Amino acid sequence: MVNTYTKTSNPMMHRPVVKEEIVDFMRTRQKQLTGDLAELEAFAKEHNIPIIPHETVLYFQMLLPLMQADRILEIGTAIGFSSLMMADARPEAEIVTIDRNPEMIALAKEFLGKYDKRHQIQLLEGDAADLLDKVEGPFDLVFMDSAKSKYVEFLPRALEILSDNGVILMDDVFQAGEILIPIMEIKRGQRALERGLRRLFDEVFERADLQTSLLPLGDGLLMIKKADKVE
Ligand SMILES: C[S@@+](CC[C@H](N)C(=O)[O-])C[C@H]1O[C@@H](n2cnc3c(N)ncnc32)[C@H](O)[C@@H]1O
Repeated sequence: MVNTYTKTSNPMMHRPVVKEEIVDFMRTRQKQLTGDLAELEAFAKEHNIPIIPHETVLYFQMLLPLMQADRILEIGTAIGFSSLMMADARPEAEIVTIDRNPEMIALAKEFLGKYDKRHQIQLLEGDAADLLDKVEGPFDLVFMDSAKSKYVEFLPRALEILSDNGVILMDDVFQAGEILIPIMEIKRGQRALERGLRRLFDEVFERADLQTSLLPLGDGLLMIKKADKVE
């Protein structure tokens, strides 16, 4: 059933931006997943479904309890791996996750039904472009792991529903380094994605009311929060 799903926009899976040996070190020397999450991780790998990589998982597992995130919004559920991982890392949290792909939704329903033991996760079916206006904030964490071209369009609403000390995390923003290549040298089919990411960087790096941090985890994780003081 899942083999019709193909992913074209995750070049990182085969072209890491960090030295391969270091990526390997981060993925193999740190603690490995066990139980339900290990099973889901293996399922995703077997069916070539993109999920956040191990080093990013460990970062979330550290960050969520530290920030005491109580309400989390995720855009891009896929099979539910990252939402179940967040539920496990922060058992107190309520998690809303959005996906629009019927095949992924069917798998997510199956896995959430099986593994969301505390009923922490609510799956919303549809395009985030339509659903974002309907979800009610505030959220302590907004995690975007969906079509990268749209991150910049989702940003205003994400900021509206973000709690004062909340954080937005956007995954796969380096595009294996393609963000550094002049747009006309990028394959035509990838240009909308690249333009979207460049608009996003232009906006968030310039705005005085936002604070950012780019983390070289996986294919790049962009962290955004509202600045404590605006200069
Ligand atoms: C990389 S996968 C998410 C992986 C998941 N976060 C994990 O780590 O387990 C991206 C998902 O985003 C969904 N998606 C992409 N654009 C979307 C949009 N505009 N609205 C809702 N879902 C979207 C796709 O259907 C796909 O299932």
